[in-house]
Amino acid sequence: MPGQPNPVRHVVVTGAAGLLGGPLCRQLASRADVRLDAFAHADLDITDEAFVRARLAELRPDLVINCAAFTRVDDCESQETLAMRVNGHGPTNLAAACRSIDALLIHISTDYVFDGSKPSPYGEHDLTGPEYNLSAYGRSKLAGERGVIGAGGRHLIVRTSWLYGEGGPNFVASILRLARARPELSVVNDQRGRPTYAPDLAGAIINLIDAGATEVIHAANSDACTWYEFACEIVRAAGLDTPVRPCTTAEFPRPARRPANSVLDTTRYEKLTGRRLRSWRDAVREYITLLEGTPGG
Ligand SMILES: NC(=O)c1ccc[n+]([C@@H]2O[C@H](COP(=O)([O-])OP(=O)(O)OC[C@H]3O[C@@H](n4cnc5c(N)ncnc54)[C@H](OP(=O)(O)O)[C@@H]3O)[C@@H](O)[C@H]2O)c1
Repeated sequence: MPGQPNPVRHVVVTGAAGLLGGPLCRQLASRADVRLDAFAHADLDITDEAFVRARLAELRPDLVINCAAFTRVDDCESQETLAMRVNGHGPTNLAAACRSIDALLIHISTDYVFDGSKPSPYGEHDLTGPEYNLSAYGRSKLAGERGVIGAGGRHLIVRTSWLYGEGGPNFVASILRLARARPELSVVNDQRGRPTYAPDLAGAIINLIDAGATEVIHAANSDACTWYEFACEIVRAAGLDTPVRPCTTAEFPRPARRPANSVLDTTRYEKLTGRRLRSWRDAVREYITLLEGTPGG
């Protein structure tokens, strides 16, 4: 109703010090209708089932947003037990604790739950896996999604992709560093996705809360590209002239397999919220201006 303030919602964020957790907490804290409790890893370990249950029972939030995860995709290959504990059991613990206090759990997941063999964008109802075609990270995140759904409480799973922003190592910062250190760069041109700026995703999560979204939804900056195209735009936006060459995944082997196509279809987000995230090009230009300062400024 116009002029009527929204009731204050009590929101708990886990993984609050991460790439997404940081901007999400800043945006939530600026809202008059939110009471925020933000927990970094040291304050709340989502793998500690008893502590999670006791803390949430004590706080009784309306809503828990889980940004905590083990996100180093290549390290997950050699540490799959840890990946499964953090990305699989952690969200399951949160979901059970949320169910017992009837709180909504918003859990963040990934495009890497898809194997990348589909030639067109992935919708929410497309088949995930198969597990043997996923990385250890993808398998652990899929286990988390299943744990959240299986707990039977109110939930929203937000899948996103190729996240970058302040507060942690990320592709944009790495390309800028390498473009200054090397005479030329080679970047894979046979993996396609949707780069997403963490503050834009944070805003999208808040829009989803306002829209009362549940179940599974995809959210990412608009338009798709390959890592090579993404790198070219980063170098250009920073005003650098380091040559960037396209290469194949086979030429640049990594411990974890990555989907060739992990473009997410975000139509459901757009219909539910009446909004569309801006294009990844506009978002990355803004981030680089923030990192580098305005040219000539
Ligand atoms: N980064 C991407 O490209 C990407 C792409 C798609 C989806 N996602 C998903 O988006 C979400 C946010 O990712 P992000 O990029 O913000 O990750 P991030 O920067 O790595 O942040 C994750 C946070 O979780 C914390 N954490 C790790 N283990 C924990 C535990 N057991 N209990 C509590 N906190 C724990 C980490 O703390 P410490 O560092 O102190 O351990 C870190 O602060 C994740 O669900 C991720 O899977 C990320």
